[in-house]
Amino acid sequence: MRIAGTEVRFACEPGQNILDAALKAGIEMPYSCRKGVCGNCAGGVSAGEVACPPSTVAAAGQHLLCQCEPLGDVEIVPASWHRFDPAARKTLNVKVYRNTLVAGDVSLLLLRLPAGQRAKFKAGQYLQVALPDGSRRAYSLANPPHENDTLQLHIRHVEGGKFSQIVPGLKAGDVLQVELPFGSFELKEESSAPMLCVVGGTGFAPVKSLLDDMLKKGVKRPVTLIWGGRNKAGLYLMAAVERWQKLWPGFSFVAAVEDAGDAQSLGGFQGRVDEAVLARFGSLVGHEVYCCGAPAMVAAVKKVCVEERGLAAGHFFSDVFVPGPAAG
Ligand code: FES
Repeated sequence: MRIAGTEVRFACEPGQNILDAALKAGIEMPYSCRKGVCGNCAGGVSAGEVACPPSTVAAAGQHLLCQCEPLGDVEIVPASWHRFDPAARKTLNVKVYRNTLVAGDVSLLLLRLPAGQRAKFKAGQYLQVALPDGSRRAYSLANPPHENDTLQLHIRHVEGGKFSQIVPGLKAGDVLQVELPFGSFELKEESSAPMLCVVGGTGFAPVKSLLDDMLKKGVKRPVTLIWGGRNKAGLYLMAAVERWQKLWPGFSFVAAVEDAGDAQSLGGFQGRVDEAVLARFGSLVGHEVYCCGAPAMVAAVKKVCVEERGLAAGHFFSDVFVPGPAAG
């Protein structure tokens, strides 16, 4: 395998997809779901041939690199790439420190690292929880990187979810095995463009990490956060929002809830987050959008931002939550 226009080469084992091979070799490319759903890993194939399930060919000339295997030597054109150190990823046994039911179907789990250990990650990244049967589940880190002796996860209880169903029963002192960090959803630090963050439910978690990190570093770009949920109770950590409102002059918040009474009491918007984007923004030219949540919600937000409000497609960054086993 090689990356077009560079000297970079990496090996891809039989049965391995191109994205996994790149990540294993310490080459980070855009991705989120690793399941052929989000489209973030779309890239070009400029030489050679690849085998992909037919439904995974993205826009013309693009392939979902998390789904394609090379047939011989292949040259790819990822949307972007950089090197990282795969050895920096660590497996840790962490202890449940606090487990709080913050909404009807959301647990906020605080995990404590072993004494003297620190977690190293970038705001917006995620960890994987290893389950006794060998499968894994991925959860975004909600705490900022400087709070590195604790890990904060916001876990929505998914019906039939192998891990999320046992989460409400976890007690202080229970031990979990986690591996981190993973993920390419992170702040474009070199930019000073106004930001729009659009999140649904527990999609709040990675954006909380980003915003807490920005506040700590004194990066006070103008930010609008739109947080969608069924009702007020679904916006389960308003204390964090109130803190940003207090400390960040350029920060504004829009609650987007289906419940009319709650929308009114929150001074927010009644409806979906994509409708809230249209209602609140006449133009998104020159903005960056950070969007996290379920695949359909992220797709709807991208569509209105790019097609109706003039956002450059390359300025839409997303973390798509797909329930089920984590890949790799
Ligand atoms: S479609 Fe490949 S990472 Fe989501």
